[in-house]
Amino acid sequence: TPEQLTQLAKEAMLHAYAPYSGFFVGAALLCGDGTVYQGCNIENAAYGPTNCAERTAFFKAIYDGHRDFKAIAICGGKGGNITGAFPPCGVCRQVMREFCDDDFLIYLVDEKGFETRTLSQLLPDSFRASTHMQ
Ligand code: THU
Repeated sequence: TPEQLTQLAKEAMLHAYAPYSGFFVGAALLCGDGTVYQGCNIENAAYGPTNCAERTAFFKAIYDGHRDFKAIAICGGKGGNITGAFPPCGVCRQVMREFCDDDFLIYLVDEKGFETRTLSQLLPDSFRASTHMQ
C-alpha cells in the first residue's frame, strides 16, 4: 500500500549520507512484482558526484534485473525531520522516464501523510527512448 511504501521511505532516510547539506532523503521504489527497493542520498565532498535517494533506489533495482516499476515514495528533511513534501529533482525525473510509464505514481511524503503525482504530471513533454527512435 502507499502507506507501507511511505514507512519504508522514512526508514530509508535514516541511511542517508548527507554531511554537507544535512538534508536527509529516503525513497522506496515498488517494482511490478511487489519487490521494494529503498534508497538514500549519498553526498560527496566534491558535491557534483552526489546521488539522490530516488536514483539510489532505481539503480539498486535495475542492477538486480527489475525493469517494471509501479510507484515510489519520497521523503526528506533537514537533520532527518520531515517538514513538508518536496518534489524530486529533474535528473531523477529523467531517470524515472527511462523505465516508467506516464502513470508511474510518485508519493510525496509530508508530516501528515502524502501527496500523489504521476510521472507525466512531473515531467510533461519529456525526452525518452521512443523520441530518438523515430
Ligand atoms: N536530494 C535527493 O536525494 N533527492 C532529490 O530529489 C533532491 C535532492 C538530495 C541531494 C542532496 O544530498 C540533498 O538532497 C540536498 O540537495
